[in-house]
Amino acid sequence: MRKKVTVVGAGMVGGTTAHRLAEKEICDVVLTDIIEGLPQGKGLDLAESAPIEGYDSRVLGSNDYKDTANSDIVIITAGIARKPGMSRDELLKTNFGIVKETTEQVVKYSPNCILIVVSNPLDAMAQTAYRASGFSKNRVIGMAGVLDSARMRTFIAEALEVSVENVTAFVLGGHGDTMVPLARYSTVAGIPLPDLLPREKIDAIVKRTRDGGAEIVNLLKTGSAFYAPSAAIVEMVEAILKDKKKILPCAAYLEGEYGIKGLFVGVPVKLGARGIEKIIEIKLTPEEQAGLEKSAATVKELVEIIKV
Ligand code: 2OP
Repeated sequence: MRKKVTVVGAGMVGGTTAHRLAEKEICDVVLTDIIEGLPQGKGLDLAESAPIEGYDSRVLGSNDYKDTANSDIVIITAGIARKPGMSRDELLKTNFGIVKETTEQVVKYSPNCILIVVSNPLDAMAQTAYRASGFSKNRVIGMAGVLDSARMRTFIAEALEVSVENVTAFVLGGHGDTMVPLARYSTVAGIPLPDLLPREKIDAIVKRTRDGGAEIVNLLKTGSAFYAPSAAIVEMVEAILKDKKKILPCAAYLEGEYGIKGLFVGVPVKLGARGIEKIIEIKLTPEEQAGLEKSAATVKELVEIIKV
């Protein structure tokens, strides 16, 4: 029997995620939303593309959480997105209510699932889902680091005119203006980035990575990114469903790792069938550690406002 993955929120991120998952044929997909007809319409459209694309994954659109029962993974994309000029943090109070209620409904029907949280502000929303679910920390994961690293990889590949496949990049910290792209741990065919690009070029890439979400919002004007976010979600889902033990940067609940306690922050983790199977601690320079702590402090400010 195929695994079951629910995507909550049938907007651009949710719809594109369902699309990518179905085409990979790694699970059946349930797409839900509170808007009547939206998930049903996208679900049916995806189901009708299956004969042409050649996948047998079933896609169901629904407004009813009952249809999500016994999901192996639930992806929460529900909430409002940014408009130009807005920071992710301005979404805090609205999305807190939506993510809390969504999580409560989800866990009622899928008490054993793994939650992947995508709604913004990401780290605070992951913490909201963690508290509302009562799940163990390995089963609540925030998606951001894979996306931020993919943006950095894109810019590095562009600067050096090499294949994106040759490029690895590491971004730590919260998914916001204080994220910490680590040039030292970013490589091209195994060669550390500082050996290949001058400092000012790296600094420009770091800045563009930090502003990557806003760059797309400013271009689209009516919403935020969805192709790269959905690709990042699917990489995480695949790592879990296939028990790949893949090391990926994700928002994880820290209990002392990197000197941070009681907070979701982006760090490298091992993703497998049990969700976050290990938090990988790497040695940071004092400057990098200070950057991570500053980033954690901004996440802490948000979780204190919503008291999670
Ligand atoms: C982004 O960075 C929406 O936060 C998301 O594009």
